[in-house]
Amino acid sequence: MDWREGAKKRAALEAVKHVQEGFIIGLGSGTTVAHAVQEIGEKVRLEGLRVLGIPTSHQILKLAVNCGIPLTTLDEHPQLDLTIDGADQVDGKLNLIKGMGGALMREKIVASATKQLVIVVDETKLVEKLGVNQPVPVEVLPFASSIVMTKIRELKGKPVLREGKNKVGPVMTDNGNFILDVNFEAVDDPGELDVKLRLIPGVLETGLFVGMTDVVYAGGRTGVQKLLRE
Ligand code: 5RP
Repeated sequence: MDWREGAKKRAALEAVKHVQEGFIIGLGSGTTVAHAVQEIGEKVRLEGLRVLGIPTSHQILKLAVNCGIPLTTLDEHPQLDLTIDGADQVDGKLNLIKGMGGALMREKIVASATKQLVIVVDETKLVEKLGVNQPVPVEVLPFASSIVMTKIRELKGKPVLREGKNKVGPVMTDNGNFILDVNFEAVDDPGELDVKLRLIPGVLETGLFVGMTDVVYAGGRTGVQKLLRE
């Protein structure tokens, strides 16, 4: 296992310590959260922990099912106790860029409905300023993608339609939409940019998660940093 994989796992195991009996848990997406889902599954199978999970992607739904975690829906449980998710960048105020796994829309919906949002990353994801060497993923309605790209250029962003790997043409999200990866070089005011982007008709959600995170666990080569929102 390379050090980053070990770091991701250590961070994920710290996050799982927030899980309590009877919790409704939002299950984010990505390779770091996968470690947390596996650990929760072990507790369900071996310790009889009773929790219900709400997955944010097909990736995590399948993993949760394989791990034996019982699932529920936002219709049955509109308020979650805890959500554990990954991130692509985390700044000093615990604002995030998310969505390189393409699950940003469901992730933000679940994060908005949770009492506590715990983010798990390896420490390479900690940055001073969001958007440096990292595009902002934006989920868009396919019908509107061309005009959304034009309007994003007016905001000084450089949008690229995300292309599939081992599939020709654009990536389709779990919601049947496209993703634009938008390079802004640096994001000075993530809250303002999030609002401006979401005001463009055809933009469904952005990967800017502002003021939502409660705790970040950032795994390093040996330990795990715990960062709390001020
Ligand atoms: C998916 C996400 C992921 O949480 C994010 O891309 C981090 O993934 P990983 O833990 O694999 O680095 O936002 O939409």
